[in-house]
Amino acid sequence: MNMWDEIKPYRETFERFLKETGIPGNPENLYAPVRYILNLGGKRIRPVLTLIAAEGYGKKPELSLPAAAALEIFHNFTLVHDDIMDRAPLRRGHPTVHTRWNLPVAVLSGDVMIFLAQQFLEKYPPEIFKALQSAFNRAAVEICEGQQMDMDFESREEIATEEYFEMIRKKTAVLLGTALQYGAVLGEKNRDEQQLLYEAGIRLGLAFQIIDDYLDTFGDENFGKAVGGDIREGKKTFLYVKAVEKLTGENKKRFIELYNKKDKTPDEVEKIKKFFIDFNIPQIVFPVIHTLTGEFNSLINSSKLAPGHKKLLLRFSEILANRTL
Ligand code: IPE
Ligand code: IPE
Ligand code: MG
Ligand code: MG
Ligand code: MG
Repeated sequence: MNMWDEIKPYRETFERFLKETGIPGNPENLYAPVRYILNLGGKRIRPVLTLIAAEGYGKKPELSLPAAAALEIFHNFTLVHDDIMDRAPLRRGHPTVHTRWNLPVAVLSGDVMIFLAQQFLEKYPPEIFKALQSAFNRAAVEICEGQQMDMDFESREEIATEEYFEMIRKKTAVLLGTALQYGAVLGEKNRDEQQLLYEAGIRLGLAFQIIDDYLDTFGDENFGKAVGGDIREGKKTFLYVKAVEKLTGENKKRFIELYNKKDKTPDEVEKIKKFFIDFNIPQIVFPVIHTLTGEFNSLINSSKLAPGHKKLLLRFSEILANRTL
């Protein structure tokens, strides 16, 4: 059985909800890109996390779907703008919004998605709305901070592991943390339980971004993004940070110089890949993923989620740790 099958019912419930909800039609050039990106079929990790967690506290999907949609639509906004920042041509195997349309359209369509996302939160009673809204805003601010750090790092040669982790915690992990926290908010659990789920999501999110970095260099066409994009853009990925840490002398100098060169040729990108392989950098990734997944698992196990839902979340973390897309 395909490992993704276990979460398929949650994904399908979410897809149905998204389809039924519909995105406004006019102006076409504002909303067509919104429909386009939402229909390209992402993995729906964040809404699935919210649905599983809320259900694990006894809440039906009908209750958690709008909150799950808010996070997925917000996530898709971040992708549209991220692809501009990263000059990325491909997303989920298709042209990115700014290449298929143009830059101003991608900016504005991305903007409107933030507010479409927010509107889903308005469906909740005041107390729940307030908690969802404040978690949402905290995550959104940190994502912007993380994205700026990511761009600032492009023009720096040495990034400490701690700085890298802070950057990915903000740009990626906080949204997975919020997705799980949403389950506890919707499940009307106390602050401690909410915080516990948030922390678990952070571990999952850190692992998730490290795998994303790995796949950006060593993934195949399944991945749906232009492989090698991070190298071309001089992104300070986990691979880069670990390579700089490990290399010495002339090798280190040559590697840093090559990686930070602008407008690399395909040949130079290959050379960098070979550097990683020759110095066994990809192998460093897996124990780190294993540790983070282990931390995620013990946090989930210490939660008040129903046993079946704990198990499902542990399986989900295993699926994500082994993903190729
Ligand atoms: C991509 O997220 C952006 C990162 C945080 C690495 P996903 O890999 O969850 O993207 P989709 O939604 O499944 O396409
Ligand atoms: C993901 O960073 C962070 C956000 C989209 C907020 P990446 O730039 O690595 O994401 P991908 O690889 O383009 O999906
Ligand atoms: Mg990107
Ligand atoms: Mg980026
Ligand atoms: Mg990436």
